[in-house]
Amino acid sequence: MAQKPWGGRFEGDTDKSVEDFTTSLSFDRRLYRQDIAGSIAHARMLAKQGIITPAEGEQIAAGLAEIYREIESGEFEFDPAQEDIHMAIESRLTNRLGEVGKKVHTARSRNDQVALDVRLYLAEEAEGLIADLRGLRLAGVRLAHLHPGVILPGYTHLQRAQPILFAHHLLAYDEMWRRDQARLGESLQRIKVSPLGAAALAGTTFPIDPQAVAAPLGFPQTFRNSLDAVSDRDFILEFAAHASIIMVHLSRLAEELILWSSSEFGFVGLPDAYATGSSIMPQKKNPDVPELIRGKTGRVAGHLMGLLMTLKGLPLAYNRDLQEDKEHLFDTVDTVRASVQLMGGLLESLEVRPERMAAALHGGFLTATDMADYLVTKGVPFRTAHEQVGNTVRYAESQVKELWELSLPEIQQFAPLADNEVFDWLKIDNSVNRRTSPGGTAPARVAEALERAEAEIGLNLHEQKI
Ligand code: ARG
Repeated sequence: MAQKPWGGRFEGDTDKSVEDFTTSLSFDRRLYRQDIAGSIAHARMLAKQGIITPAEGEQIAAGLAEIYREIESGEFEFDPAQEDIHMAIESRLTNRLGEVGKKVHTARSRNDQVALDVRLYLAEEAEGLIADLRGLRLAGVRLAHLHPGVILPGYTHLQRAQPILFAHHLLAYDEMWRRDQARLGESLQRIKVSPLGAAALAGTTFPIDPQAVAAPLGFPQTFRNSLDAVSDRDFILEFAAHASIIMVHLSRLAEELILWSSSEFGFVGLPDAYATGSSIMPQKKNPDVPELIRGKTGRVAGHLMGLLMTLKGLPLAYNRDLQEDKEHLFDTVDTVRASVQLMGGLLESLEVRPERMAAALHGGFLTATDMADYLVTKGVPFRTAHEQVGNTVRYAESQVKELWELSLPEIQQFAPLADNEVFDWLKIDNSVNRRTSPGGTAPARVAEALERAEAEIGLNLHEQKI
C-alpha cells in the first residue's frame, strides 16, 4: 500500500474497497503530459518568486522531464494504489529527488492542479476538433465540386418538395460545421484560463505569480476568484454541449446517408471500406459507420446530461464529485473526434448516383410551385395561383401524367391565364436555375457559396483543378 500524502493526519489505512471506489488513476493517467507541463511551469514560478531556490526549481523541472520520458517509453510503473495521476507523478518525483521533490506542491493544491490539467487537455483537443471539422468541411466541399450540376429532390416532411442541387444540400451541412467551428473557437477563450494559484480554495500565503504559470503554458488569462477557479466546470459543460450539437449535425447527415444508400433511394453507394456485411444474409452491405455515428450521438448527449447532473447542487468550492467530470469528458472527446473524422472519410469516398437522383425527380410534381410562380407573373394572385395549380396537380394525378405531359388546353381548364410559356417553367432544370434569390439553389448562387466556403477553409479548388 502506498504511503498516503495525508498520512500525518491518519492512523489507519484506507480500506481496499474505498481505494478502488475513489481512485481515478485508471482514467486520469491520460493527463500525464498536462500534469507534468503544469508542474514544471509551477516550479519555475516558485523559483522566480524566491519561494524555492533556482537550483531546486531546475531540479524539479528536470526530474519531471525525466518522468515524462519514463511514461512515454512505457517504463513508468503505475501503482494502482496511487489515487490519481497527480499523486502518481508527485510520488515518483519524491522518489527520485528526495526532499526537493516534496517542494513541488508548495502554494498549490490538487484542486487547482486538476482544473489546470483538464483545461490544458481540453484546449488541445478543442483545437484538434476544430481542425477535424475543417477536414470534414474539405471533404464536403470537394464532393460538391465533383458534382456541380447534379439535381435531386429536396424534401420537407420526407416528401419530395422541390428540385435542388446536390451541392446545395452538402453546403447546408457546411454551414452547420462552420458554426460548430465558431462555437468551439469562442469557447477556447474560456478554456484557456489558468486556475493555478487558487490553491485549495482560498488562495495562498506565498507571493505567487499566476501569470508566470499561465504564460509558458500558452494561456493568456488567469482566474479572478479562487473559489470559482477550483469549482468551475462551465468550460467542460460548454464543450459537451458543443460536442452534442456536432453529433446531432452528424447524426442528421448519417440518417440521410442511411436512407440514401437503401435500395429504395439508391442516391449514393457507401464505399466498401465504410460498410460491413451480414453474417447470415450474403447480399447485405450495411451502413454501420453512419449508424454508429447516429447511435453515438445519444452517448455524447448523455454525457452532457451526466455532467449537468454532477454539477447541479454542488456547494462551493471543490467536491470530490468533480472527479466524475473526466470520464464523461474523455469519452465525449474521443467519440466526437472519431465521428467527425470518419464522416470526412466517408464523404471522401462516397459514390454519388446522379441517375438515381434524377429518377426521383419524376412523379412528385416537384415544379408545381414554379407553375404557381409563373401564374403570378401573369397577374394571378399567389393564393389563387396555388389553388389553380393544386387543381391541375389533382387532374394530372388522375391521368397518371406529369404536369409537363399535360396539353395546354388541359392546363387552361384550371389556369385560364396559362400560355405555352408554362412548359418552360415546369422543367426541372429551370426550376433550379430560377432560384437565384440569396442563399438559393441556383447554380450561380451555389457556386458563390462554394467559393465562400473554400475561402473560409483555405482551399481553392478552382485553381487546384481536381
Ligand atoms: N482526482 C481528483 C479529481 O479528479 C483530483 C483532485 C483531488 N482533490 C481532492 N481534494 N481530493 O478531481
